Amino acid sequence: MNIQIAGTGRHLPEDVLTNADLEKMVATSNQWIVERTGIHERRIAGKGVCASDLAAPAAQQALAAAGIKPEEVDLIIVGTSTPDMYFPSTACFVQAKIGAVNAVAFDVLAACSGFIYGLSMAENFLKGGKFKTALVIGAEVYSSIINWEDRTTCVLFGDGAGAVVLRAGEGTPGILSTHIFSDGTKAGDLYTPGGGSVNRFTPELVTMKKYALTMKGNSTFKVAVKSMADAARIALEKNGVSASDLKMVVPHQANQRIISAVAKQLGLDESLFYSNLERYGNTAAASIPIALDEVVREGKAVKGDLILMVTFGGGFTWGSALIRL
Ligand code: UT7
Repeated sequence: MNIQIAGTGRHLPEDVLTNADLEKMVATSNQWIVERTGIHERRIAGKGVCASDLAAPAAQQALAAAGIKPEEVDLIIVGTSTPDMYFPSTACFVQAKIGAVNAVAFDVLAACSGFIYGLSMAENFLKGGKFKTALVIGAEVYSSIINWEDRTTCVLFGDGAGAVVLRAGEGTPGILSTHIFSDGTKAGDLYTPGGGSVNRFTPELVTMKKYALTMKGNSTFKVAVKSMADAARIALEKNGVSASDLKMVVPHQANQRIISAVAKQLGLDESLFYSNLERYGNTAAASIPIALDEVVREGKAVKGDLILMVTFGGGFTWGSALIRL
């Protein structure tokens, strides 16, 4: 039983927030943001637009690309840390919005690694033979958990969604392997302190903006580089593949300097690494499937090409997936 990538899709909100806009909101500058992150602008979901509103059109695009009807989908996994609600899952809202009436639907919470975690779970469900067709989605509205007065985080993130359709069958393998990892001892380096059962919603919590994400940027940066490089090496080693066999690396889009440092650690040319940070910033769990869809639709990689995806996020969580289109 092999698993093919049958289709990809993405959906970005139309509203653009530029570095010049942010200069008017906090003590920052276009120069600092570009030099320290590579980000020029990001997309922001309008009021009332939730994660499933972004996920559903991305999923429909992926299904159209795959030539698969919504009723044929057996499994929907949404990687998100900005769900529509605590419950039901965002995946259930997506199921209803696209009419995937026969699917089992649930979310996976692994922060920016949510898509790769979801891909790994779907891989195992499909290999187990229980399901044939899966939709794996990364969808985020990080603008809803940003403190717009905190310059250390508000310049980094954006909203969006990306999706892939996986199909189990007899063809050539599309997912060669997935590898996922966690280290809960570093939870306090990147998290949203309030709103859960630890710090419950109170007027004070809202006044103090404790619902917003907080990050120790510097230490997260260092762990992210090492973890992503390790995850990349594991994927290559386990498959007996060398970097020269890769058409492209599609990394999580957190910071261009992280991408450069990962490339350096692996001894690879940075040009092998796809980046759309300039346009979208960090869209957390959505960043890899958005990037993958751009790569596919723009013909930067074609059927048969090997692509390595590597991720890192809060938790800490990290991982990799080696795929053949
Ligand atoms: O997606 C999940 C994983 N996320 C990541 O992996 C992100 C990892 N971290 C990073 O990408 C980087 O650490 C940041 C982009 C968040 C920060 O870059 P940095 O080079 O690590 O900067 P820093 O935090 O060391 O701050 C350097 C200086 C500080 O000023 P002082 O203390 O040196 O006077 C900050 O206050 O830059 C200041 N600063 C800013 N200045 C202008 C921080 N944010 C800004 C800003 N504009 N937006």
